[in-house]
Amino acid sequence: MSTTFQLDTSTSRANPTPQPMKRLTVPKIRAHKADGETKQPLVMLTAYTARQAQLLDAHCDILLVGDSLAQVIYGLPSTIPVTLDMMANHAAAVVRGSYHAVVVVDMPFGSYEASKEQAFESASRLLKESGAAAVKLEGGEQMAETVAFLNQRGIPVMGHVGLTPQAVNVLGGYMARGRDDAEAKKIVGDAKALDEAGAFAIVLEGVLEPIAIEATKAVSCPTIGIGASAQCDGQVLVTEDMLGMFERVPRFVKKYENIAEVIDRTVAQYAEEVRERSFPSADQTYQPKKG
Ligand code: KIV
Repeated sequence: MSTTFQLDTSTSRANPTPQPMKRLTVPKIRAHKADGETKQPLVMLTAYTARQAQLLDAHCDILLVGDSLAQVIYGLPSTIPVTLDMMANHAAAVVRGSYHAVVVVDMPFGSYEASKEQAFESASRLLKESGAAAVKLEGGEQMAETVAFLNQRGIPVMGHVGLTPQAVNVLGGYMARGRDDAEAKKIVGDAKALDEAGAFAIVLEGVLEPIAIEATKAVSCPTIGIGASAQCDGQVLVTEDMLGMFERVPRFVKKYENIAEVIDRTVAQYAEEVRERSFPSADQTYQPKKG
């Protein structure tokens, strides 16, 4: 994809503007898996801001505006306090910063569990205010009726089973799920129920690999793994985790870079130059015209 730059005269920033291209659609994502086979795994990353979306967009099939923004952006201890306003605002920024990937927005805790009608009201608000194409919600069989209700009314739904962070107070922590037979069976059953209800994809988070493989084989829609298996139909990570923004990350994260170190080094240099008055230099200052 080629990129042009538009100068914003009010800020002097050159905003990268990729040549408009056709955005992927939810049916295209769903069709990635045909007859139980996915030739090329789906690439999904989280995005919370417009600039981040611009940088990720060309490489990803799906940008997830995850409620993990609680910890990553807001410094909150869990995803429980996240609100619809927070999700709608960040999702709108991500839609503005992307042209290619399907943007999916997380439904925050408390905005959908009470009834399918509550879920429709919250999900329709998220899509109207942000321009995102679909929502994601946590939970298995107990959410199947809601998934069908939303889907039949024009709202595509991505499911999320296994380790479901919004249920941290019930689960007692963020440990991998499915360590006993009953729980393993339930996770596969949950994935099947969401698939039958019309979910267009299902995130499998923090599950033992054999369960991820069994669930992937058991459902017709693509599964997207995080701490699951390379055999899933796609993968997702929290972008800041894989870039190395945080020292401590879950075991399933691969750090592809060490951005925290780059920032530390760069800011230390800036601080030193300010203190010794070598910044700003002639290149960064305005002088009166000569003559
Ligand atoms: O909120 C989030 O970022 C997520 C992913 C980790 C799947 O739900």
